[in-house]
Amino acid sequence: MSDVTSLAHLTDEEKYEHFMRRIENDEKIEAEDWMPDDYREQLIKLITMHGISEIMGAFPEKEWVPKAPTLHRKLAIMAKVQDEMGHGQLLLRVAEDLLKPYGKTREDIMQDLFSKRLKFHNVFHMPSPTWGDAAVIAWLVDGAAILSQTMMLKTSYGPYGRALKRICQEESFHSKHGESLVLSLAEGTPEQRRMLQEALNRWWEPLLMFFGPKSSKETGHTNVDKNLKYKLRSKTNEELRQEFLTKYVPKIKLLGLSVPDDTLHFDEEKGEWIYQEPDWQKFKEIIKGNGPKSDERLALRRSSYENSQWVRDALAEYRMAAV
Ligand SMILES: [Fe+2]
Ligand SMILES: [Fe+2]
Repeated sequence: MSDVTSLAHLTDEEKYEHFMRRIENDEKIEAEDWMPDDYREQLIKLITMHGISEIMGAFPEKEWVPKAPTLHRKLAIMAKVQDEMGHGQLLLRVAEDLLKPYGKTREDIMQDLFSKRLKFHNVFHMPSPTWGDAAVIAWLVDGAAILSQTMMLKTSYGPYGRALKRICQEESFHSKHGESLVLSLAEGTPEQRRMLQEALNRWWEPLLMFFGPKSSKETGHTNVDKNLKYKLRSKTNEELRQEFLTKYVPKIKLLGLSVPDDTLHFDEEKGEWIYQEPDWQKFKEIIKGNGPKSDERLALRRSSYENSQWVRDALAEYRMAAV
């Protein structure tokens, strides 16, 4: 008997208590199970944002596929771009199931993206003018993504957790690819080292922004609070940012690069990194779709979506014929 059928005789309040008991017992919630609207809405917000970020995240690196310096690098960056699109597809399928009760489809997700109602990660609104940017993105943006995605592997929503398992495996390949790019530039000519340092300078603030403003315990940010309560995630934005700094600052220094923040240090007493706060006003503008590359990349996404309409039409015809 499905969860929904077995709970049919209960009041909404009792259903909610039953649901929260399942969450507290670390049970996985499945798409067809009863869930409070609030949980469903948090999931939709989280997973559509993640899925669309994967797709829009392919754009800054896609620009480097035709210009990769060697065949080997071209094959690797092309594989990474394909992986990111695949991650987007997986996640949008998970989101689609959650949207069914609202009568919404993947088409609506795309239209929300084009009209800027649906936000995607701040980092993917930024330009990637050199090969050094491709290296820093694969090493540090993917590195940051791995931290937040592995944190969610044990998420209470089963379909999301299973998609993340596959995604995290591929992300670790991306980060190795990034490490290899960064290493060869760091060991290269003075011009290559300068290119790498300049890319790091450009990406430092977006990387700090990547985890979002201080949240939950720090400021009472409600979405993060809810996601913690429902065990969709297990760490706050600031905890993830601190983890990122602990993992990467020593590696950056080891490569002979400098972090573009004179105030950055580890405070032994507080047991945390002190850093220059990013400009959160700028962050808000960027994720609203007013970043340096937002319009250009959205226009590209829209035209590629429109140009592939015939594939969706043909598939729909095929499905109709098969029925
Ligand atoms: Fe990805
Ligand atoms: Fe990735």
